[in-house]
Parts: sequence; C-alpha cells; structure tokens
Amino acid sequence: MAKDSPTQVDSKFNNSVFSSSKDAIILGSGSFPKFTGEFWTSRQRQGHSLHEIAYRACFKPQLPKFFIESLTKPGDVVYDPFSGRGTTALEAALLDRHVIANDVNPLSVILSRPRLFPPTLSEIEERLGEVSFEKKVHADIDLSMFFHPKTMTEIVSYKNYFANRFSNHREDDVDRWIRMVATNRLTGHSSGFFSVYTLPPNQAVTPADQIRINAKRKQKPDYRDTKKIILKKSRILLRDVTEEQREQLRRIGKNAVFLTNDARRTDAIPDNAVQLTVTSPPFLDVVQYASDNWLRCWFNGINSESICITTARSVEEWESIMQDVFRELYRITKSGGYVAFEVGEVRNGKIRLDEHVVPLGQNAGFKCEGILINEQQFTKTANIWGVGNNQKGTNTNRIVLFCK
Ligand SMILES: C[S@@+](CC[C@H](N)C(=O)[O-])C[C@H]1O[C@@H](n2cnc3c(N)ncnc32)[C@H](O)[C@@H]1O
Repeated sequence: MAKDSPTQVDSKFNNSVFSSSKDAIILGSGSFPKFTGEFWTSRQRQGHSLHEIAYRACFKPQLPKFFIESLTKPGDVVYDPFSGRGTTALEAALLDRHVIANDVNPLSVILSRPRLFPPTLSEIEERLGEVSFEKKVHADIDLSMFFHPKTMTEIVSYKNYFANRFSNHREDDVDRWIRMVATNRLTGHSSGFFSVYTLPPNQAVTPADQIRINAKRKQKPDYRDTKKIILKKSRILLRDVTEEQREQLRRIGKNAVFLTNDARRTDAIPDNAVQLTVTSPPFLDVVQYASDNWLRCWFNGINSESICITTARSVEEWESIMQDVFRELYRITKSGGYVAFEVGEVRNGKIRLDEHVVPLGQNAGFKCEGILINEQQFTKTANIWGVGNNQKGTNTNRIVLFCK
C-alpha cells in the first residue's frame, strides 16, 4: 500500500488512507506501513437503523462500510467468519453485495438473518395478535429474579409458539423477526426490556448476581407488556427501511449463506469465492460470549454450554487458533481479494494483537498491505454512551489489511 508500489486498492481508499499520518512498524524481516487517522466516524444512530441490535464487542457499521465501499463492487461476495450480530453481513447486503456469514454460536443467525427479510410493522402487529398467552405455563428454570410472573408466562408462550411453528414447518420471516426482537429485548437496563433493571442487553448476569442487584437496588420485577415492547423496538429498527431496500435485502437474503461452524473449518464455502472478508475475532479471553448470551440461548432452545466458543488465555494459544483461521481464509479468498482483520486494544493496550496478526496472515500466503488505526476522538455523547474502548479519550480500531 506504499505510495510508490503497484496496488489494487482503489483511489478512494488510497486518498483517505494516504492523507493520514503514516509510520512504519518493523516485524521480523519486513516493514509495514501503519496508517493512523479518522477514516470513518462512528456516531450514535448514524448507521442504518436495522443495525440497532445490541451484541457484545460488535463493531460499528461504519467499519465494514469503509472496506466494502473501498474494496468491492456490487455483486462481489463479502464474508465474516466471526459474524456476531451480523454487522458485516447486513452492511454488505445494504450495499448490494453477496453475503456469507459464519459464527459458531447459532444465536448469531437468529439475530442476523431476519434483518435481511424485514417485514412491515402491520405484519408484525397482526402476527403478534395471533400469539396467545397461556396462563399455566412455567419456565424450566427459575427466572423470577428477572421477570414478573405475568411477563414470564408471556416469554414462555413465545418460546412455545416458536417451537410449534418450527416443528409444523410454518415458521416464516415474520416469526423469525419477532423471535429476533424478543431475544434482543429479554434483559436490559430500562423499561424498554422485559426484565427488571439489570446489565445492558448484550450481557446477561447469572441468577445469583441478579438477586444481589435486586437486593442492592431494593427492586423487584414489575409487569412488562411484551407485545408493546416488541412493536416499539420493531418501529425503531424499521425506521430507515425504504421499499427499495426491503426488495434489495430480500434479493440478497435469498442467496445469503449463514453458517454455524468453527471459523477454522468452513467446508461449505468454495475455494476462491470471497472478494473481501471484514471481521473481528474473539480477543483472547476478554469477552465471555457464552455466559453473556446464556439467557438469549435459553430463550432460543440453544444449549450454550455445548458451543465451542474460542477463548484463549495466552497470545500463543490465540495465535495458533487464528493461524488456522487464516489458512481457511486464504483458501476461500479470490486472487486479488482482501481480508480486513480488526483487533481491539487488549490488556489496556499492553498487547498489540495487530502486530501478532501480521505474520499469521503472511504464513498463510497473504501479502500484508499495512495496519490501519482508526482513531476517533470521544465526543461527550459518545462517552456517555460508552462508545470508548480504551482509556485515552479515543475509540480505537486496529485493522490489519491483507491481499491475496
Ligand atoms: C468480536 S465478536 C464479533 C462481533 C461482530 N463483528 C459484530 O459486529 O457483531 C466475535 C464472535 O466470534 C464468535 N466466535 C468465537 N469463537 C469462534 C470460532 N471458533 N468460530 C466462529 N465464531 C467464533 C463469537 O460467538 C462472537 O460472536
């Protein structure tokens, strides 16, 4: 990506990256350009409204948007092997690119796929009217520390409704949408959620911790009108959707591939199929995806303990897993295609995972184009909303860019 070397990245990309401050890092026998700047700005509610589903360690839609717009054209295949809530997949679909998404946790598909098939508000309202709340249903585990008994019967009724629709082969896009929104609204820190006050929705605490929170705050769960909450959140998600987009998303959605594999083995993806991968892997053991998602998994009948989510205690262990991921990425990437691999600042910036990533990509056969550091200064609002991921008053994303 140096100015004087032949490059396949387009001029828009070159212009924004080269006008930034540049230095070089020396790793092993090579030297790589490192670009620091504000390549994109991730303000609250600036991405498309359909993205507004909370997920632990998700990236802002502006990040995949920057790479998709710069390094692909409509019709190209864009992939994310650690898809999470599906930020890359949705942004790619909004930009008319083909989509492949993978995440070892099946919850990822439940949260991502329905947003490629957004129903209308009236379809959602009508369907909610068809869900009847049974009075005598009970959860198989005690969740009384989170939910009022009446809210609990509504939650179990949805669970039974989805299971019935699925086993009768009647589940459709509207059901899947309602399931996604209900999953998203289970627990949170405001009256917009089904639960009493707890941690934000992407982080479910254990029942024992919730009992402690209730005692400390002298609170107990009050009734929440789940249908009203689902409709309200649906209205927010659908806010920006135009008829044209609805059609485009559906068209892309019909051919989109959602996998639930370990990112190291994605046999369903053919060789040389992908133009661009934009992804963010689990960073060592920083986020506990299994425990953060236990309640969402319970609601969807997923045994969260049976999912092999990667957590690595040491950098060496992490490198060995990611080396296999890069070999797989090399197999599926087209010649001339790219991988944008985002890692955060781990252990308060003491571990620079980006510098560990460079040799992993090279060993797999990729050429390292450089490291992009997107540094966005905090605004007061961003601070309040907890956008920051380090302690320096900036929101930093570190992305290593490779080309095949
Ligand atoms: C940092 S998050 C990705 C967030 C995503 N960029 C987004 O915007 O939502 C990492 C994801 O990797 C998934 N994951 C962990 N180990 C995995 C593995 N071995 N293979 C595939 N996915 C894995 C986790 O379930 C989690 O959703």
